[in-house]
Amino acid sequence: MTNLFDLTGKSAIVTGASTGLGQGMTLGLAKAGADVLLVDHVSSEETLIKVKALGRKCDQLVINLMKENSLQTVVDKALDVFGKVDILINNAGIIRRTPAIDFSEKDWDEVMHLNSRVVFFLSQAVAKDMMKRKYGKIINVASLLAFQGGITVPSYSASKGAVAQITKALANEWAKFGININAIAPGYMATNNTKALREDPVRSKSILDRIPADRWGTPEDLQGTAVFLASKASDYVNGHILVVDGGWMAR
Ligand SMILES: NC(=O)c1ccc[n+]([C@@H]2O[C@H](COP(=O)([O-])OP(=O)(O)OC[C@H]3O[C@@H](n4cnc5c(N)ncnc54)[C@H](O)[C@@H]3O)[C@@H](O)[C@H]2O)c1
Repeated sequence: MTNLFDLTGKSAIVTGASTGLGQGMTLGLAKAGADVLLVDHVSSEETLIKVKALGRKCDQLVINLMKENSLQTVVDKALDVFGKVDILINNAGIIRRTPAIDFSEKDWDEVMHLNSRVVFFLSQAVAKDMMKRKYGKIINVASLLAFQGGITVPSYSASKGAVAQITKALANEWAKFGININAIAPGYMATNNTKALREDPVRSKSILDRIPADRWGTPEDLQGTAVFLASKASDYVNGHILVVDGGWMAR
């Protein structure tokens, strides 16, 4: 059984790896044996030290994924460091909270750009290497707001709905090339992304009241799922959106 989840010799790119869920999933991959390129617009030094402590090869690229030509730079760097890309986790994401009636075009465009445009085009850039080798695992990070509308986060919900559809669309085209494209839809996790919610006593209570597991999720809660979707264990799983939410969607 253990071999099914072994990632020894695999190389991964994780975006948004400096903190939060990206850091958590990176450590999951590294524990399972993978080498990792950490990509973020701020330093991922803390994650890098932790991955190296696990005995894996690790490098980082500090880059704004919304800048022109940045996506090919990411792939080139990974090919330079590892010679191949086996796993991509499209995790970097942002959220902007404003009532829809006042929502700005800037907040719409920036969230859609990073959360969905980058997911599609970085997958495309990575898949060009994966297709040659007929092997690849692409894991997109969606959200419960791929299914639900959310409150005061319209561009975020739209962008995550797009992530779910991109996941299915790419799976339909690329599964035959040995590339698995799936998504994780995390529930309410304690990271920077949800700081405002956790600090609002009314929203915080109403959220916790609906979570059967009776707690916010943590970055560690995504490790098993990330390893599953990155490993041989999920070879016949294609275009799936895997909810990891302490039971929220079951309510
Ligand atoms: N925390 C939650 O409850 C939750 C729930 C569902 C989905 N998600 C998703 O999980 C992913 C990770 O979020 P998180 O909760 O860890 O939040 P986070 O804000 O801690 O992490 C986001 C990461 O993306 C990086 N990033 C932001 N803009 C970037 C850019 N332009 N270029 C490169 N990197 C950039 C940040 O530096 C950070 O490392 C996001 O896609 C988010 O939408 C989070």
